[in-house]
Amino acid sequence: MSDYIEIEGEKPLNGVVKISGAKNAALPQLIATLLTAEQCEFENVPALEDVSLTLHLLEHFGGQAARTSDKVKISVPHLLASEASYSLVKALRASFWVLAPLLARGRAARVALPGGDKIGARPVDMHLEGLAQMGADIKVKHGVVLATAVDGLRPADIQLRFPSVGATHQLLMAAALVPGTSIIRGAAREPEVEALASMLMQMGADIEGTGTATIIIRGKEELGGAKVRLIGDRIEAGTYLLAGAAAGGSVRVNGVNPLHFGEFLDLLSKMNLDLEYGDDYVQVTRAGDLKPVDAITGPFPRFATDLQAPLMAALCFASGISTIEETVYEGRFGHVSELCRMGAKIQVDQQFATIHGQSKMSGAEVDGHDIRAAASLVVAALGSNGTSVIYEPHHLRRGYEALEAKFSNIGARIGYKITDPEDFVFTGC
Ligand code: UD1
Repeated sequence: MSDYIEIEGEKPLNGVVKISGAKNAALPQLIATLLTAEQCEFENVPALEDVSLTLHLLEHFGGQAARTSDKVKISVPHLLASEASYSLVKALRASFWVLAPLLARGRAARVALPGGDKIGARPVDMHLEGLAQMGADIKVKHGVVLATAVDGLRPADIQLRFPSVGATHQLLMAAALVPGTSIIRGAAREPEVEALASMLMQMGADIEGTGTATIIIRGKEELGGAKVRLIGDRIEAGTYLLAGAAAGGSVRVNGVNPLHFGEFLDLLSKMNLDLEYGDDYVQVTRAGDLKPVDAITGPFPRFATDLQAPLMAALCFASGISTIEETVYEGRFGHVSELCRMGAKIQVDQQFATIHGQSKMSGAEVDGHDIRAAASLVVAALGSNGTSVIYEPHHLRRGYEALEAKFSNIGARIGYKITDPEDFVFTGC
């Protein structure tokens, strides 16, 4: 038995998509509940595999979680474990972020190293160096980080050599539960970092400078609970906007702050798309030919690497030659071979991709190797002539809530299928 998503392309998309809460904001904010014994409440929580895995992880540490529709209540009255095994961290890389809260609250943690994945080596040296500067004794043995802070962590002035989102999350969480002033220089400026900081402030920490490269944290001996509404998912939203660009039509994404897109909206304008936006929506209309662009990924507010693959898919339909330089991950062109199987003409030279637009894109059977690679195939399939079959849809379940229903609502012909006729499931079309 295998399952797949089937898409019949070249149907213009028109309508409104309600964007879900951001996966990449949900994960660190759910993990931050480990810092307090008090209850934290969340709204706008997306129904995604990664969120379910995070809740499971928190239960492993003593968390009591209750979920109703998009609301989650969690409390961790006592830390009942200090270890995250490789199987937990392998299933969800962000599980590694439990290291800082476990250390700050429980003074000891054993967390498996996440290792590399299909998009790159993804080391965690900055996480470990920052925590060591805060007084943690850190050893790495047999692929496991053993960290202790017998007398508690201490405040520190930490310089990151690259604005890592994960390292900034970890150090923010640690510093929030350490009395005294810590500084993170060269910090990530992503909206998800701001969202975590604002939750930590509600919990009692005093934090200045989020959204800039220097964050100053005055931590507390104890933190309290928080009530949080998750921000809208800018990557999910960007994927729908690019699908509109590839297939044609007019797509509006509701529930997302336009300021959270950084350079991405400028790229859409340069692609000759009409753009309209308000406080919590963006609308893109394709009125004529798509123009090629030159894009370079980078830390926020530069163009987000998570939208690189979906952008490349849309650029296959542009009238001319586009280039994309990937500066965040060394191996993030896994989608290229699959796009080429659909007729794309793309050359890759190390971190550079050259996309020859207006190639005849036609539906094909393709494999989505990771979450954003799979999203790029959906975008390509929607603009292509004929029917595409996208295998391994479980990658999409990690980051796109109700994908088929949302696309069907705006006119896509899309369905989820299972090959065993006994289990046949069909939505959309
Ligand atoms: C987060 C996002 C991911 C996004 C990425 C960059 C989540 C759950 N994931 O991942 O979707 O693609 O930000 O926007 O929010 N690095 C080091 N040493 C470190 C830490 C990072 O060299 O200690 C490197 C990484 O290998 C990578 C780059 O820094 O090349 C960016 O990584 P980072 O910002 O940390 O990404 P994540 O937090 O893992």
